[in-house]
Amino acid sequence: MTLTPQWLDELRARTSLSSLIGKSVKVTRAGREWKACCPFHNEKTPSFTINDDKGFYHCFGCGAHGDAIRWMTDHRGLAFMDAVKELAAAAGMEVPAADPRAAKRAEEAMSLRDVTEASALWFRERLADSEGAEARSYLAKRGLTAQTISSFGLGYAPDARGRLKEVLAQFGDAMAIEAGMLIQPPEDAPANRREPYDRFRGRLMIPIRDLRGRTIAFGGRILGAGEPKYLNSPDTPLFDKGRILYNLDRAAPASRKSGRLIVVEGYMDVIALAQAGIEEAVAPLGTALTEDQIALAWRQVSVPVLAFDGDAAGQRAALRAATRALPLLRPGHSLSFVTLPPGQDPDDIVRTGGASAFDALLSATTPLVDLLWQTALTDRTDDTPESRAGVRARCMEWADLISDRDVQAHYRQAFRERLDAAFFAPRQRPERGAPRAGARAARSARGWAPPERSPTAGVPAAANRMVIDAIIAGLLRYPGLVERHAEALSSLDVPDSRSQALLESIIDTCLMHQGLDSAALLTILGNRPVYNRAMELLRADGMHFSFTRAPRKAVNPGDPDERAQLSLAQRDLDEAIAAVVAWPEVERALAAATKAMQVRLDEESWAEQQRLKTMKDSLAERLAELADGGRRD
Ligand code: UTP
Ligand code: MN
Repeated sequence: MTLTPQWLDELRARTSLSSLIGKSVKVTRAGREWKACCPFHNEKTPSFTINDDKGFYHCFGCGAHGDAIRWMTDHRGLAFMDAVKELAAAAGMEVPAADPRAAKRAEEAMSLRDVTEASALWFRERLADSEGAEARSYLAKRGLTAQTISSFGLGYAPDARGRLKEVLAQFGDAMAIEAGMLIQPPEDAPANRREPYDRFRGRLMIPIRDLRGRTIAFGGRILGAGEPKYLNSPDTPLFDKGRILYNLDRAAPASRKSGRLIVVEGYMDVIALAQAGIEEAVAPLGTALTEDQIALAWRQVSVPVLAFDGDAAGQRAALRAATRALPLLRPGHSLSFVTLPPGQDPDDIVRTGGASAFDALLSATTPLVDLLWQTALTDRTDDTPESRAGVRARCMEWADLISDRDVQAHYRQAFRERLDAAFFAPRQRPERGAPRAGARAARSARGWAPPERSPTAGVPAAANRMVIDAIIAGLLRYPGLVERHAEALSSLDVPDSRSQALLESIIDTCLMHQGLDSAALLTILGNRPVYNRAMELLRADGMHFSFTRAPRKAVNPGDPDERAQLSLAQRDLDEAIAAVVAWPEVERALAAATKAMQVRLDEESWAEQQRLKTMKDSLAERLAELADGGRRD
């Protein structure tokens, strides 16, 4: 019988050492570890520690040390194979049958790892050496600190064909080729080009570690422009691309602490996030997320978060991951998604906004079911009965992919509810003053609603809509003003349903994160369907309010010019909001007064009607002035 090191790693990973030991010794939690009185020597105060992350126990008193298997042999007195069998049964793993080739592979794997480790060491030395200057300045340009570089073991492969080969000569070319470090030219190569040569040349080297932190492969990034941008080790007996998540060995303990696991697209994203203090990030290795990788992520947390670029390619990748996960869904296990602002990856985001910018994005993730639903809705080009039926068909096809019956039933139900809310909900305008949350939810769930008629008849509908959109654009630029108007803004009747959804997002976000500036607000909104509307409003020309014209950058309160600009924008925005809120009230009061005057025909009701008329006219005039830049005569 042969057990490969990988198989044994898996066995250790699936075994909770503290609960195993806890079966025979009383263990208590001590921070991230567990403590107990050492079962191997006599003691009264505990010096025996168990580290579940590393899968080791250690006694500081007597030096007893080992993993789960060692525990079974040394404490329980089992033979090695019996220990393995018992642990495997508890972990639900099958003990592999005897296979001499597997034994040979296991032996090789040991020494192949020596090849990759030796390469990693040499690459690190090259980076530190004078020949690593260009790579070092590249890393500095990307903002990576010495601490990060050393902690991720980054290195440099010089631009030469035979230098690593020479370093690895002790292992023999065949082994260096098998470890993926040398390339064997094809048989028909010209005679002077038949020698094996270094695979990685002139690249920044990123070691890829297995679950126990040992280097098993590399990703190599070109230093400037060039193709391919990243060159990865080929699959080897040590390295199976589809079954490794970059950085999982470190992300796993970090994710146990934070309760989240973030899947990003690239190595550099993982490294930049770690440098910013977000250590629970992993990445696939240049391929779409595989089923094995999803399963690996699920071993850490029940709902890993997948972060994808907001551009079309990123959204396709998100959908691909989503549909791939469907057959694997189990009760309690799912995926959620953050959509990054188009063209930005996590590296860009933490570099400009720090960890808080990324955390803010993570505070509003989209559940798998909504990602699918939004995809079905936004892929439509029109709102016809056929396209509605198409949305339904698409959702139900996705539900069909789910193999867990219970989860599938819940997905069908969830899609039905969304379809009903979107396409069949009665179209009623809420009563004034009545709670609007329900109607609003239905309206935003509809996602694609034809424009509604303005309730403020009197101001031409288009003008009313324009003022409200301008106010929203103003709030995007001056999020600091949202809070003081939250109440009034929430009661506003917004004619355009996309603007309505955007306004609600702005209010919610600003109330949740106090002190946001414009850039931070947009970063958070970048994650939501309302983002496109926000961009449209910010780019709209034809708005000449003081608060739509202002530059969209953080206001520096120390600068008197900027302060003046802020206070002007703030005053005008206050006024515009007050005006649009007051408008329908004044209209209604005027209509009532007009009616009363016609009935009573007395001086008093005439005066009241005149007062309201003047009020309405001055509101209209004031709005017109504001729309013209806030000019005051
Ligand atoms: P990206 O092209 O998005 O690059 O590839 P990046 O991560 O932002 O890298 P920088 O910031 O430009 O350095 C995302 C991931 O896809 C894989 C790599 O794993 C990369 O991290 N990839 C990309 C390749 O494997 N080969 C390539 O040629 C390009
Ligand atoms: Mn990048």
